[in-house]
Amino acid sequence: MFLHNTKLYGLARNLATGVRHLSGQKPKTAILMLNMGGPTHTDQVHDYLFRIMTDRDMIQLPVQSRLGPWIAQRRTPEVQKKYKEIGGGSPILKWTELQGQLMCEQLDRISPETGPHKHYVGFRYVNPLTEDTLAEIENDKPERIVLFSQYPQYSCATSGSSFNSIFTHYRSNNLPSNIKWSIIDRWGTHPLLIKTFAQRIRDELAKFVETKRNDVVILFTAHSLPLKAVSRGDAYPSEIGASVHMVMQELGQSNPYSLAWQSKVGPLPWLAPATDDAIKGYVKQGLKNFILVPIAFVNEHIETLHELDIEYCDELAKEVGVEEIRRAAAPNDHPLFIDALSNIVADHLKSEQSVNPKFLMRCPMCSNQKCRESKSWYRQLCSN
Ligand code: FES
Repeated sequence: MFLHNTKLYGLARNLATGVRHLSGQKPKTAILMLNMGGPTHTDQVHDYLFRIMTDRDMIQLPVQSRLGPWIAQRRTPEVQKKYKEIGGGSPILKWTELQGQLMCEQLDRISPETGPHKHYVGFRYVNPLTEDTLAEIENDKPERIVLFSQYPQYSCATSGSSFNSIFTHYRSNNLPSNIKWSIIDRWGTHPLLIKTFAQRIRDELAKFVETKRNDVVILFTAHSLPLKAVSRGDAYPSEIGASVHMVMQELGQSNPYSLAWQSKVGPLPWLAPATDDAIKGYVKQGLKNFILVPIAFVNEHIETLHELDIEYCDELAKEVGVEEIRRAAAPNDHPLFIDALSNIVADHLKSEQSVNPKFLMRCPMCSNQKCRESKSWYRQLCSN
């Protein structure tokens, strides 16, 4: 089934990028856009959950090799139902392809010396899987590969897992020769990303009547993280805080705001308050108008389209007596966001620095052997 889907995806992608191939232009710079991905169809849900639940960088469970597959199996019908309710699948692939295409068109214009540029999508848990995409890139023989994390804020559970998977892949596959590798690992405070979020918020604020507008609570929401990871020193909470701070600065501190954490799973303690608890808490305090702002993901996905839109903005809002609640769109294909992507890559290609020294550090309390080996492998990879 995996192979079948991969072939179909490859065919569709080759058709979509056919113009470039027909023009005979070999990409000089390959940009691999890394993300967790999401099932495009409900029949991919089980394999997607299986890969998440057996990835120890993402989640650590006791007897994971048995418990992980059991949880994946058990949760499949409930998660399939949620995907059906948002139209049958995740739009992450669609958005990432569009973002990549628009980014490369712009890069070809603003950085012709590093072109032609070609984007590739590498997902961690669903097709197109990063390992398959690496083979596709090798086949195209670019001079340079940029590994571009699509998580603006870095966490070892998300970005780290994607980078570790590339290291694992090349532990048992030959590294192609004569290619320069470099890494864009975090960019949560890039001015154009911040402007994109601010504009998405302004668009929603404008829909409130003027008399209410200044009192609307801007509630930033990001995927939660187990406190165990926070205590190891994962950079994620501080990087999310930095993005929130910069967006509010861009908005001139126009409104009251707060940060909450969504999508916790399991019984162990995670970052709190949960986004639904924060909404309930503010309503009790008499604050009844909200804009929810997903600050950690650059395209719509199940957590925005289902958890925020259906479970909170519709069901919860009615239950607790919210007056008005709106949700800021993810960056998606906003022109400012496409400018952000292209500028980040163009500046990176110009820079002498192929990897951020912060990326090569481990969390202070990291005891994961794979991180140790992976960081030292990247140090060498990016020094060539
Ligand atoms: Fe953060 Fe290993 S858990 S570097």
